[in-house]
Amino acid sequence: MTRIAIVEGDGIGHEVIPVAHQALELLHPEYDYFPVDVGYGRWEQTGCPCADADIAALKTADAVLFGAVTTPPMRDYQSVVLRIRKALDLYANLRPVKSDGFDILIVRENTEGMYSGIEEIGPDRATTLRVVSRTGTERIVRAAIRCAGQRRGKLTIGHKANVLKSDVFFRDICIAEAQNAGVEYNDKYIDALGLDILQHPGAYDVVVTTNIFGDIISDVSSYLVGGLGLVPSANIGDRYALFEPVHGSAPDIAGKNIANPIAALRSAAMLLAHIGDQEGAERIESAIGTVISSGILTRDIGGSAGTWEFGEAVLKALGNCPVGR
Ligand code: NAD
Ligand code: IPM
Ligand code: MN
Repeated sequence: MTRIAIVEGDGIGHEVIPVAHQALELLHPEYDYFPVDVGYGRWEQTGCPCADADIAALKTADAVLFGAVTTPPMRDYQSVVLRIRKALDLYANLRPVKSDGFDILIVRENTEGMYSGIEEIGPDRATTLRVVSRTGTERIVRAAIRCAGQRRGKLTIGHKANVLKSDVFFRDICIAEAQNAGVEYNDKYIDALGLDILQHPGAYDVVVTTNIFGDIISDVSSYLVGGLGLVPSANIGDRYALFEPVHGSAPDIAGKNIANPIAALRSAAMLLAHIGDQEGAERIESAIGTVISSGILTRDIGGSAGTWEFGEAVLKALGNCPVGR
C-alpha cells in the first residue's frame, strides 16, 4: 500500500496542505495518508519541534507532502525542514519555474554548502563553514544532468567562483561532469545569473547551483510566474522524497484564508509524478489551469478568491475530468 505522510507544519501550511491533500485523496483514495505534526508550533507547545520518532515515521512513507515550517532567527533553534532534508539525505532540491515562453528547472544542492551546520557564535565573531564536497557536488550535478537529459539538454552552472574557492571546486567538478556526459553547458556568476534569469528566462533549461544560491535564486525567479504562491519543489534523495512549496509559513497572511494553494497543489502533482502517476500529475496541473482560465484567482495574483474557494474549484475541475476510476 502506498503511504503518504502529510506534514502541514506552521502558518499557511495549515491552509494550503489540506487543499493539496484533498486533491491527492480524490485521485487516490486507496493510498494510506498519515499526518506528522512537526514545526515551530509543536516546539511552542511541547519544547520539541521534531522528534526522532517523527523522522522515523517520515521514513516509512513512500513520499512526504510538506507545507512549511516557521524557522525563527534564534540561536538555539534548528530548522525542522533542514533537519528532515539532512536526515532523509534529500540532496536534490528541484524547483521548476515554468510559464509561457520559458521552462526553467533550478536544481539546488540541498545538504551542504552554507547549510553545513558547522558554525558558531562567539562573543566578537560568528562563523559558518561553507562545505562543498566532491561527493556532494558530483551527485547534485549528475542529478541535474539527468534532468537536462529528459528536458532540452542544457545545463547552466551558477556559482561565485570569482570569490569563493569552494565554488572554484564546485564549478570545476560540474564542468568535468557535463563534459563527461556530453551535455551542453555554460556557467555564470550567481549575481549576474539572478538578473539574467529575469531578463531572459527563455534562455535557461536546467540551472544547477549550491544550497544558499539555489534558495535565493528560486525565490527571485518566482517573480516570473506570479510569486511564491505558485512554485512547487521536490526534495529527492536515493531513498526518500519530500514535496513542498518553495514558500514558507507566511505569518503575515496566515489564518486569513488568502494564501494561494497552487504551489502546494503543484507539489502534490510532483509527488504523484515521482511515485509513477504521471497522468494524475497532469490532471492536477490541468485542473489548476482550468480554474485560472475561469477567472478564479487568489489575491496574490490579482483575484479575490479565498484559499478554500480556489481549492474547491480545483477539486471540482479534477472531479469533472474524465476519470479512469
Ligand atoms: P514566505 O515564503 O513565508 O513569505 C514571503 C512573502 O510571500 C510573504 O509576504 C507571504 O505572504 C508571501 N507568500 C508566501 N506564500 C504565499 C502563498 N502561498 N500565497 C500568497 N502569498 C504567499 O517567506 P518569509 O516570510 O521570509 O518566511 C516566513 C517563515 O517561513 C520564516 O520562519 C521562514 O524561515 C519560513 N520558511 C520556511 C520554509 C519551509 O518550510 N520550506 C520556506 C521558506 C521560509
Ligand atoms: C526554503 C527555505 C528554507 C531554506 C529555510 C526555511 C530553512 O527558505 O525551503 O527555501 O533555506 O532552505
Ligand atoms: Mn527559501
